[in-house]
Amino acid sequence: PTSAVDPADGVAVLETRGSVAESFGIPLAVLLELTHRCPLQCPYCSNPVELERGGTELSTDEWKRVLSELAAIGVLQIHFSGGEPTARKDLDELVRHASEVGLYTNLITSAVLLTRERLAALADAGLCHVQISFQGNEPAVADRVAGFASAHAKKIEVARWTRELDLPLTVNAVMHRQNLHQLPDIIEMAVALDADRLEVANVQYYGWALKNRAALMPTLQQIEGCTAIVEAARERLKGVLAIDYVIPDYYALRPKKCMGGWGRQFFNISPSGRVLPCHAAETITGLAFESVRGGKSIAEIWRSSEAFNRYRGTGWMQQPCASCAFKDIDFGGCRCQAFALTGDAAATDPACALSPLHVRIFKTAEAEAAQGSDRFLYRNFAGGTAEA
Ligand code: SF4
Ligand code: FES
Repeated sequence: PTSAVDPADGVAVLETRGSVAESFGIPLAVLLELTHRCPLQCPYCSNPVELERGGTELSTDEWKRVLSELAAIGVLQIHFSGGEPTARKDLDELVRHASEVGLYTNLITSAVLLTRERLAALADAGLCHVQISFQGNEPAVADRVAGFASAHAKKIEVARWTRELDLPLTVNAVMHRQNLHQLPDIIEMAVALDADRLEVANVQYYGWALKNRAALMPTLQQIEGCTAIVEAARERLKGVLAIDYVIPDYYALRPKKCMGGWGRQFFNISPSGRVLPCHAAETITGLAFESVRGGKSIAEIWRSSEAFNRYRGTGWMQQPCASCAFKDIDFGGCRCQAFALTGDAAATDPACALSPLHVRIFKTAEAEAAQGSDRFLYRNFAGGTAEA
């Protein structure tokens, strides 16, 4: 397959999104998934198909201990994420504690549960930055994707409050076949909302998203158009809006250096305290992830746990990765995608043109995009599913 998308560009963009540390030192930023509870039902959710229930979540005191420990081992920045982190009533207390121990805090939110008073309270508690996810620019399309009435209008309102409270704002736009036509308007929306940064994030297909791939997969023409629009907007909006761009790698020739390489620059902590190499890692069955409740320090889990060491570096690789000149550049792509598409997390990510499965995957993407289904399979936190 050929593509107008230069895979090297994708790699470069992704490299700027993580820590530049190439050692296995403690990452500078850590993502805390406070809960899997979420009022939205996005069909592209990358959380595991089996969500963790509210009763298993770490308590306020446990999260505070985690925050103190992270600050003590050199972490500088915390992303409070989910699910929907504002579903936790103690978020204000956790933000306050994080600030007290010297951590920079970012809230990654769908915004639909926030009131102005709550956002102001979070700002008072020391919140440093807000990232709001948008499902599009036209309310009808955006609300249908979110599976939540009036979600879009609420997000716009919360974005305005964010700036009124003088908090920096990032707009995160998850893109796919059903909303890519809105990209120019989404860029204008981000400028109008006075955002500092826009993340144009094409859907990645693991977790729940894989079940909705046929309804979400863009066409190659859409991706080429999207790349051109982002490049022109970056030039035009220099100094006004920074734009991060994640390409959908089914149409690339080389895979993304996912998470900067497994266990190299990133970890996150799940609602029940499991320390994970990426937010989708629990989609890989057969790996045991250690918990902050297990008695080991987070630094020890990072350094020596079996799950982190299994795919660290290049020693675990099979062919064609094992003898490939790019193995220290992309670390074989994404382990979650390799597992989702091949059943073996140690396989070459089929997004790579050198994978024996790449042509089949590319053809599947093309065929699904051409078929044009717009049926979503939704799930809600109560465990229900619905098709619409
Ligand atoms: Fe990367 Fe493996 Fe593909 Fe080489 S064969 S480009 S190391 S994924
Ligand atoms: Fe898990 Fe890529 S999302 S390694």
